[in-house]
Amino acid sequence: MMTEARAFAPGKLILTGEHAVVYGHRAVALAVNLGTTVSLQKRLGPSGIDSSDIQDARLWPALSTILPEEGIGVHITSTLPIGCGMGSSAALAVATVRAYARLKGEEADFNRCYTEAFKVERVFHGNPSGLDHSVSALGGVLVYRRSPTGPHISPLAPVALHLVVVDTGPPAQSTAEMVENVRIQGNHKVLSAIGKLSEEIIKGLNSPERLGPLLNQNHRLLCELGVSTPTLNKAVSTLRRAGALGAKLAGAGGGGVAIGLVRPGSRVAERMQAEGWKAMDIEVYKEYYDG
Ligand code: MEV
Repeated sequence: MMTEARAFAPGKLILTGEHAVVYGHRAVALAVNLGTTVSLQKRLGPSGIDSSDIQDARLWPALSTILPEEGIGVHITSTLPIGCGMGSSAALAVATVRAYARLKGEEADFNRCYTEAFKVERVFHGNPSGLDHSVSALGGVLVYRRSPTGPHISPLAPVALHLVVVDTGPPAQSTAEMVENVRIQGNHKVLSAIGKLSEEIIKGLNSPERLGPLLNQNHRLLCELGVSTPTLNKAVSTLRRAGALGAKLAGAGGGGVAIGLVRPGSRVAERMQAEGWKAMDIEVYKEYYDG
């Protein structure tokens, strides 16, 4: 019997469809080459978090939905910006499911990751669509649609997406609050327009020239939805000025990250850094995890 187990899961970026995905529209997300590693150790006494890069009062309440009350110490390290739209909670959830399965001498397949990680995600986000932890569990790029009978998930063939991510800092409101703001506002015209645009984006995924302007339109619609901020708008316009083919906020908004679509080998991240932004090149985390 193992006394220690460890697992990694990647974070994510949403290329299109945030918020609209909650209402059954299709979204596209990609796993990124940053993520969270969870180490579990058997021990005597009550379970709990021993050390964590993530400081959040919901941490143990969330993990206790899938870990036993007794006998496990948890160590969490993460290379993701926390709570900024890059799926830090989803990566934590999936890594914990995998590590706990390993501690029991098992491997968690996608269905187990999906169902168990959802319990963790509900503590963090209330009523999430399931997109974030699906892409963390599968890796690569995928199209996701929520439906009353369960999610429709289509992993896509490798797509050459070169992105720069700009971190504008943690949002003032949580994902759950941002989703609730959108629900109260009830702007289904804009949500449907985002859904329609996502269909165009799916068709244009392999053509950066086509994709760039569609991402710009996506950002405009997210502004209409009321989830952007002056800093995100500035990050987006600076990304475009620095050479991005298109740019948008990514995730729930209210702060967090913006992404820019760039050509391979572009110096957009460097130019953003020179202007004082926290920017980096992002690669798709390609591993397709099928248990
Ligand atoms: C958050 O990463 C994405 C949202 O669409 C919420 C969700 O899908 O649950 C804003």
